[in-house]
Amino acid sequence: MTLMFQILRDLLVGVLRTAEQLAQSYGVSRADVIQAMEDARECGVEISAIRGRGYELLAKIDWLESDQTLRALGNRADQCQIRIFNQVDSTNDSVLGVADRPIESGLVVAAELQTRGRGRRGRPWSSGLGNALTFSVLFHLRQRRMVSAASSLVAGVAIVRALHELNARDVALKWPNDLIGAGGKLGGVLIETQPERDSLGTCVVGIGLNVRMSEKLKSSIDQPVSDLRSIGVVADRSTILGVSLRHLYEAMDQFELQGFDRFRQEWTSHAAYLSKPVMLVHANGDVEKGVMSGIAEDGALLLATAQGHKRIYSGDISLRPLES
Ligand code: BTN
Repeated sequence: MTLMFQILRDLLVGVLRTAEQLAQSYGVSRADVIQAMEDARECGVEISAIRGRGYELLAKIDWLESDQTLRALGNRADQCQIRIFNQVDSTNDSVLGVADRPIESGLVVAAELQTRGRGRRGRPWSSGLGNALTFSVLFHLRQRRMVSAASSLVAGVAIVRALHELNARDVALKWPNDLIGAGGKLGGVLIETQPERDSLGTCVVGIGLNVRMSEKLKSSIDQPVSDLRSIGVVADRSTILGVSLRHLYEAMDQFELQGFDRFRQEWTSHAAYLSKPVMLVHANGDVEKGVMSGIAEDGALLLATAQGHKRIYSGDISLRPLES
């Protein structure tokens, strides 16, 4: 894949380069170049290949630029150490891999391409190259008990604040941590801890956001998906990343000082399906019906059922509107 990134960073829109020229530039075979271009297409990069004339980009790739991200971070730039990789399996794993001891709170890993992204409940998280944001932030919360269901809801609120700053229309939060808009899923949050570092209140906040998804990628995902372009966000990926990080740092500080109380009402004001009949599917396939009545003080979903009020915790539950 290294060759693919080298070529993609050199290719331009409207300038054709033949496989022979590219092979010569990088000291590889023509077949290697052809394979690299195939790989790039698989990752969703729009490339045209004209027989005998060569390759060109059909659309400029929106690469991540750390300088632009730091500018968008504004007064939070000092707090941020950011590592941008071409390709990783999962940014949630990478951020722990690059963290030195003592653990640096606020350390960020972002990837141009994430090949084995994880979603909730063991689901894969798919994204291509240049069309999504996949990043993880390491936090060292002062109290172990802060790493809870609520921290994931706090991260969701932070991203909604960021998207509003970027002029997004109609973003909603679907419990526990889906961002939805324009009829589909825009992104999600996956908070993970490491048993050996758990006692320190260390957690990794992993965020995936669809920025500009091709129809092909959208249709390869087993649920309705949407992207930030469809809800009015026109900023480049580096800016979206910087603004999101600024709000995330701010929100985590507020969470540490004021707890989830500070966020409960705000989360609820963005809630999808509030006061609506919903269906919960448990990990074992059991289904529970009720009305979503709100969020508890610890981030649990409050469900009014025929058997009374229940608190539902994250992990093995999904939420669907009831078909009437
Ligand atoms: C979900 O909605 O299921 C959560 C999705 C979280 C995906 C992000 S992408 C960056 C980080 N790295 C991962 O492997 N997962 C999270």
